[in-house]
Amino acid sequence: MSDPTPVKVLALSGSLRKASFNTASLRAAMELAPPGMAIEIYDLAPLPMYNDDVRLAGYPPVVQAFRSAIAASDAILFASPEYNYSVSGVLKNAIDWASRVPNMPFDNKVAAIVGASGGALGTARSQRDLRWILSGLNVHVVNLPHVYIGNAAQKFDANGKLTDQPSRDFIKQLLENLRDLAVRLRPR
Ligand SMILES: Cc1cc2nc3c(=O)[nH]c(=O)nc-3n(C[C@H](O)[C@H](O)[C@H](O)COP(=O)(O)O)c2cc1C
Repeated sequence: MSDPTPVKVLALSGSLRKASFNTASLRAAMELAPPGMAIEIYDLAPLPMYNDDVRLAGYPPVVQAFRSAIAASDAILFASPEYNYSVSGVLKNAIDWASRVPNMPFDNKVAAIVGASGGALGTARSQRDLRWILSGLNVHVVNLPHVYIGNAAQKFDANGKLTDQPSRDFIKQLLENLRDLAVRLRPR
């Protein structure tokens, strides 16, 4: 890498449950991060439900903090569960809070997506929707590899460690691609 400044990644999980496979995927990403990348998981639980009246009265501090954290990052790593064939309400709600102008913090960010589900398709449908949502916010999403962790209960151990080697390899490659894209698109 020609640029020595580490790529700062904000990692967002669309599941709030303690034993979430998606949050566990982000912990795996922290283990697998390549040189030149620092990943921090940001907890979406404190965010209230989106209400445009509240926005117009002024962002609540927890929302402002979330928007600022996105703005201060170079890249976003999403772990998207699949709820009823799409993105979870938790993740969509967080994106909605961050999506309003002025100073829309997602604008021109780089992102990557992973997802774990109980089904065989491993969040393929929710990831397709998430890519579509992010396209409208001018987020540059790494195209490949797709990281679909299907039948998740068989791919993590009792401590929430991702044990499936192909999934680990895909995450590692995705993070390398994310780092490279973030450096290429880094504002000069
Ligand atoms: C409301 C709800 C809807 C779900 N819909 C789907 C679905 O459409 N496709 C799928 O593969 N799994 C679905 N699941 C199962 C989730 O993949 C599974 O609960 C998964 O563990 C959720 O992610 P988490 O472990 O990060 O919480 C659904 C689960 C819930 C609670």
